[in-house]
Amino acid sequence: MRSRHKGKIRKLSVMETYEPLPHQKRFHQSMAKYRAMVSGVGGGKSLMGAKEILKWCSLYPGSLHVIGRLTAKSLRETTQKRFFEICPDELIYDWNKTEGHLWLRTPQPGIYSEILFMHLDDPGPLGSLDISSFWIDEAHEPEGEEVPESTFQMLQARLRNEIGPHRGIVTTNSGGKDWVYRNFFHPEKLLRDQRAMEQYHEDIAEGKHRHKPDTFWGEVVPTKANPFLPPGYEENLRRNNPEHWVKRFLEASFDVFEGQIFPEFDDSNDSLEKPPLERHTYYEGEIEISPFWRHERGFDFGVSAPTTVLYGALMPVDGEEHLVIYDSLYTPEAEPDKVAKHIKTRGFDYVYADPSTQYRGADKKSPADLYMSEGILLLPSSNDEETFFSLLHRHLRNNTIHINRDTCNELIEEIKSATWDSSVLSGKGSKEKAKKSLKFPDHARDGLKYLMLGLGAFNQNQKLSPVEPGKKRSKSKYPDDHPSFQEDEDNDPWANLMGGEDEWLENFS
Ligand SMILES: Nc1ncnc2c1ncn2[C@@H]1O[C@H](COP(=O)(O)OP(=O)(O)OP(=O)(O)O)[C@@H](O)[C@H]1O
Ligand SMILES: [Mg+2]
Repeated sequence: MRSRHKGKIRKLSVMETYEPLPHQKRFHQSMAKYRAMVSGVGGGKSLMGAKEILKWCSLYPGSLHVIGRLTAKSLRETTQKRFFEICPDELIYDWNKTEGHLWLRTPQPGIYSEILFMHLDDPGPLGSLDISSFWIDEAHEPEGEEVPESTFQMLQARLRNEIGPHRGIVTTNSGGKDWVYRNFFHPEKLLRDQRAMEQYHEDIAEGKHRHKPDTFWGEVVPTKANPFLPPGYEENLRRNNPEHWVKRFLEASFDVFEGQIFPEFDDSNDSLEKPPLERHTYYEGEIEISPFWRHERGFDFGVSAPTTVLYGALMPVDGEEHLVIYDSLYTPEAEPDKVAKHIKTRGFDYVYADPSTQYRGADKKSPADLYMSEGILLLPSSNDEETFFSLLHRHLRNNTIHINRDTCNELIEEIKSATWDSSVLSGKGSKEKAKKSLKFPDHARDGLKYLMLGLGAFNQNQKLSPVEPGKKRSKSKYPDDHPSFQEDEDNDPWANLMGGEDEWLENFS
């Protein structure tokens, strides 16, 4: 049925009645091989995607396209349904509903372009296709499931039909810092793409033979970019939904997504209009750190993962204590001498750390031993994630935590990207816990946990005490206190560590 296209292509009838909005126009006109449009609900993505595929079907007679969505149900009920509303009847030559296989007439009589409607939760069948283009509509479903990046990569690899255009499009609402963000929007990725393209042009100018690097284009638009929605649609959704929903589903922000643990964290440009002590982040110099406040550190030990130190101080404001995180170290090199130097040059000799840093590995040296020999005491804090989360929620709600955005960027990113483990959300896991993955690192966040839980144990001010759901008490002989409470002025942990070390460690395990 398919054959190579020959001859001239006439003007496309399918585009004649469609007046694209400015963002839709930019999408249609982009020359990039891969394009993503991330929009708020009703931003005009599906209409635009369907028109683009119809355009390609006509421009490349005999071509084969995949229109995909994560699940068979959402494909059938939304994208496919929408496509048939948009596709002019006279173009349809044949439709095999069971197999989701559509043949469309093209300007070349007797030559048909084909569309396969596929659900993408099983990438297997894609492996045997040679396609001309693909369209992923909604990389995320409202329940939080997402099309895996491996499916996007598989589709890219299948773009080798003898007929073009060999392009891929993704239209979706925002799913946070996911693969759509990483491929189409991450500033470092865009810079890498730009450099590769510059190198390509230099090589070509020198007469070297090179393949053109893949190009990626992405744009984010809010719901209100579409004036064709019913009057009051956007305003009513804005009024009737919580702020984090509005940010994600109307403004298409990458900072809010399904399963997010701290949707209330706000480092947006809007938040910057408030005074520094009424927001979650501040610029260097906006809050002056006094040496007379109480200063503490949180430390997360890493060997293959980064090592983190966070420097915080408690600032008294109208009888309330605000926690200011004013500096950090985030280093992939887990070299204790360098990390210890960073801490010592700031005038400190201990940090709050994971209690497990006291345990000795096979070579008999614990992280605490390593740091002790560099002159830094790793003081065991608590690993109670639940208490930490409720503490941090409380601080965020009360605007009593302020993080330096110039020096603690990793911490800010990790708070924003903190996600619940999806096995918990779907009811498969027993207890709520944060997701652990390379995608959502938590090194700086762990540093904050040890810092805050360490602080909480010492602080007499109830405002900073951990609050519970799921009341948990330490096995300490002082049942109301954090285990590390046992470190006090009369009980020098240094002396303890130097002397009867094992006995001291027992207190904390
Ligand atoms: N350029 C346009 N001209 C006329 N109507 C348009 C245009 N773009 C979008 N619309 C209309 O706006 C509405 C929303 O568009 P569409 O369904 O494509 O948005 P969407 O981003 O896919 O929405 P959702 O987030 O619900 O999937 C539809 O009724 C569509 O017909
Ligand atoms: Mg849609």
